[in-house]
Amino acid sequence: MIISMIAAVSENNIIGQDNKLAWNLPTDTAYYKNTIQDKTIIMGRKTAESPDMFFSKKRNILITRKGNYQKENFEVTSGLEEALKLPEENEEVFITGGGEIYKMGMEIADKLYITRVHTVIEGDTSFPEIKPELWKMISERKIEADEKNEYSFSFLIYERK
Ligand SMILES: NC(=O)c1ccc[n+]([C@@H]2O[C@H](COP(=O)([O-])OP(=O)(O)OC[C@H]3O[C@@H](n4cnc5c(N)ncnc54)[C@H](OP(=O)(O)O)[C@@H]3O)[C@@H](O)[C@H]2O)c1
Repeated sequence: MIISMIAAVSENNIIGQDNKLAWNLPTDTAYYKNTIQDKTIIMGRKTAESPDMFFSKKRNILITRKGNYQKENFEVTSGLEEALKLPEENEEVFITGGGEIYKMGMEIADKLYITRVHTVIEGDTSFPEIKPELWKMISERKIEADEKNEYSFSFLIYERK
């Protein structure tokens, strides 16, 4: 199994505010949907309840400490370790947030799909530091701001060294 994480992250590592994204970037949203729509995705309960949440057509798994929690279209698990027992052995699984789950995922992920949003912004949820001694960038593509996308941003892919 390949464990990947996907996130849009500001220059100062902010990923959200008030359980929503901190920007409107339709080109990044399209990239995100295209990347995860046929994959198994794993997320925290708060991200699953965010209005910005997108479903996978394949499999949606959420993590909660609430014993009898249920949500339509989701398989409910009690932790990341339990969630990672569900996918097939040979698939690429995406951890899709939020801050609490990325923090745990950073210890075990093989790959990071990061949209680096070129702004410094305020927010209440962060992505962990991507330490250059642990991660190698293997792909970079910059998209300029335009009438639809309020900031410029770069699609980055990292692999663990
Ligand atoms: N920019 C991006 O790419 C991106 C992506 C995703 C999310 N976000 C943003 O991130 C924010 C949400 O992140 P968040 O950190 O507040 O919440 P989160 O990581 O989505 O979910 C946290 C919840 O996960 C469950 N959980 C966490 N650790 C657990 C453990 N060890 N065992 C069992 N359950 C555990 C708990 O659920 P219970 O409380 O139910 O027990 C906890 O409240 C929102 O603003 C969202 O928009 C941004």
